[in-house]
Amino acid sequence: MRVVSGIQPTGNLHLGNYLGAIRNWVRMQDEMEPGSECLFFLADLHAISMPHEPAELYQGTLEMAAALVACGIDPSRSVLFNQAQVPAHAELQWLLGGTARMGWLNRMTQWKDKAGKNREGQSIALFTYPVLQAADVLLYQATHVPVGEDQKQHLELARDIAQKFNNDFCTEDAPVFTLPDPIVPPEAARIMSLRDGSAKMSKSDPSEMSRINLVDDADTIMRKIKKAKTDPEPLPSEIGGLEDRPEALNLVTIYAAVTGDCPDAVLAQFGGQGFGAFKPALGELLVETLAPISERFRELKQDREVLDAILARGAAKARDMGGSTLAATYKALGLVRG
Ligand code: TYM
Repeated sequence: MRVVSGIQPTGNLHLGNYLGAIRNWVRMQDEMEPGSECLFFLADLHAISMPHEPAELYQGTLEMAAALVACGIDPSRSVLFNQAQVPAHAELQWLLGGTARMGWLNRMTQWKDKAGKNREGQSIALFTYPVLQAADVLLYQATHVPVGEDQKQHLELARDIAQKFNNDFCTEDAPVFTLPDPIVPPEAARIMSLRDGSAKMSKSDPSEMSRINLVDDADTIMRKIKKAKTDPEPLPSEIGGLEDRPEALNLVTIYAAVTGDCPDAVLAQFGGQGFGAFKPALGELLVETLAPISERFRELKQDREVLDAILARGAAKARDMGGSTLAATYKALGLVRG
């Protein structure tokens, strides 16, 4: 088993990232069997596909590394690095560019959402973003890729690229690429904004009140949960009763995802009660869960030398691990390399 996943180092790590992906990374790392490996990286090359401030990206990359370690990623057991220190990601992206099709990329919902009506004005990197994402996982022969629901389509594209490349350039008994499986947590695949139950919780939402950041202090968490949009109805006793109540459903989903219970178990406890009772309980649960993470984060982010060393060590290992697939890709394409 080879687990590979990434996160963009822009903005703060939020509850959607944590429940949708990072907690699964930690779980997979902790349950890893001998012979298996986990690679987790900061997708700094992806971050330049949108307008950005270089100094913020630089600082954000180091802070995201600290946040991942604070969440439980252990650099002595997992390979933790940033793409920019492993040139093979960008190299493989180019090599896969001959296989990926414009039509496939045009169908990506993230591209459509981010580009909106102004496609002509977008960077080329935003359009080819999913090819880099395919390179990220194919480079290491990933078998499992833990992500939230929103990244599933990109992983399907990675499989399509791998399959077409194997078909076009490899013999059946010696494919270059492994087809990766996305691993999406059923209980927290899509955590929604606290202000709008139809939009996902996201780093790019201009409203800080829309998300809980993993580094928010107790007062901020309680305030954000108190102000979260809801409705005047009490909670039902079964999940079916939340069908047309997306904001209420989201808060129950968050509670269930944090405790590891199913939403019906949460409703068995809180059914019949209003948000005046549920919100403080949810706020306290979040404070209790996030306090140790934010405390560790605050310590780690001061230690620039340690963070640099973690990323340098991880990158050296990643360069080594990706070498043979990169070489096999050049060879399969008929490129002369001495
Ligand atoms: P990013 O940085 O937007 O998010 C990191 C991870 O968090 C998940 N996530 C969520 N899950 C549930 N609810 C939410 N509201 C929510 N918001 C974010 C994402 O699904 C993701 O798993 N393109 C990727 C980064 C990437 C990558 C890769 C991932 C680059 N290369 C290769 C996997 C494999 C991204 O922008 O994720």
